[in-house]
Amino acid sequence: MMSGSTAKLVSSPVEYLNEAFEAPQTAYSENANIDPQVLPVRRTRAHELAGQVERLLTRMRIAVIYGGDKTEDGAVIYQSHNPRSWKSYRTVAEDIAASLRRMGCRYVSLMADDMRLAQRLQDEGIHFAWLNTGGVQGFCSVSHAPAILEMLGVPYLGHDPLTAGILDSKHTFKRQLMGLGIPTAEFMTWHGAGEPLNPCENPEFRRVFGDYKGPFIVKPVSGRASLNVEFVDDIFGLAPVAQEIFDLTQNHVLIERYLGGREFCVAACGPTIARDGELEKLDGPFTFATVERVLQEDERIFTSMDKRPITGKRVRQLDPLEDAEVIDQLNELGRKVFTDLNMETLVRLDVRADEDGRLFVLETNPKPDLKAPTEDGVTSLIAEGLTQCGMSYDDLILSLIADRVDLLLRQRRGSAGHLVELLTICEA
Ligand SMILES: Nc1ncnc2c1ncn2[C@@H]1O[C@H](COP(=O)(O)OP(=O)(O)OP(=O)(O)O)[C@@H](O)[C@H]1O
Ligand SMILES: [Mg+2]
Repeated sequence: MMSGSTAKLVSSPVEYLNEAFEAPQTAYSENANIDPQVLPVRRTRAHELAGQVERLLTRMRIAVIYGGDKTEDGAVIYQSHNPRSWKSYRTVAEDIAASLRRMGCRYVSLMADDMRLAQRLQDEGIHFAWLNTGGVQGFCSVSHAPAILEMLGVPYLGHDPLTAGILDSKHTFKRQLMGLGIPTAEFMTWHGAGEPLNPCENPEFRRVFGDYKGPFIVKPVSGRASLNVEFVDDIFGLAPVAQEIFDLTQNHVLIERYLGGREFCVAACGPTIARDGELEKLDGPFTFATVERVLQEDERIFTSMDKRPITGKRVRQLDPLEDAEVIDQLNELGRKVFTDLNMETLVRLDVRADEDGRLFVLETNPKPDLKAPTEDGVTSLIAEGLTQCGMSYDDLILSLIADRVDLLLRQRRGSAGHLVELLTICEA
């Protein structure tokens, strides 16, 4: 049985029928013009899904996977380079696992994403995995774990390998945005194995930037926590900074126009959400946590959470009245990125305005930080934005797992046969 405050999934068909034709109470997430015929259908599915999720949570053996450490014995065959700054993300994996246990999961195990993963999954009879990893080492490391799980036939909560890889390669993702007409800062890439960077004579530089002479941002194409993101005043400062970043990452370097306005985030996930433990199905992605990353007077790049923890002071909830226009624009950007790029689970868009207030997508994080808020005020950008939409941290975790179960059961039955079996077996 599910327990605690997150367990209030709709409890009986009668209860469901009694409320079936009430107007939805979701001012921020639902379109007021929804065809009233659609609501009862969605409610039926939400009710059915609640039962399926409840049964699966008690029956599935779940692994929460965090980043493996390549220096540990047996983690890899040969240690190689990390173009992306490495982090284990284990503490957040613990937060996710604790939440899953609170909502009734009987078997939750933490596992490192490394060479031994397949064996551990088999040894522990894991049915389902939650990916909270950026990988161990190598290029496109965020896509290694989903690729392995695809091969092993273990369903997971996370992006598929291709989507994860695209999102974690800022240049590739930005090209997709441009193809879809979604605004992102003009950019070019440079790789240290080719010609030295000479902006004045580089035809690509001239094609992209024209007469624009700066300032610029120079950053790794695959990065995290604002690490190695540099502000450069003019074209003459670009070459040494790009070289420095290349030397560290051994990967393409991104050079883009500096956007000097306010900075925001918005999260987007699938249409199944939980509020106070009760599931609801929307007719499109759920966008939430519209927050402003508060920059100090002289802060041009939002300081890494590795250097200064995220607290309520550094992140401001947008005001529904005062910031109504920007909230609408952020929600629309979130919906568009999620839908047009065929995303299937949580992302966080980082967005910045130019001096005229126009919004541009900086990047979309495939594995946004899901740290549970602590009593001393340390939180994550996403958790900070949850209260405004009436959701707790456990509601978010339940939303994400319920949405994935819904996707697997409705669209991927062929990839989740053992989950269907688990649903139908009678408990001893
Ligand atoms: N083109 C730009 N114009 C202005 N500021 C930028 C630009 N690109 C990056 N920044 C600043 O640098 C920060 C980090 O950039 P970005 O989000 O691309 O990298 P990251 O290291 O992946 O970030 P995260 O902390 O979200 O993991 C942004 O939050 C923003 O403050
Ligand atoms: Mg970012």
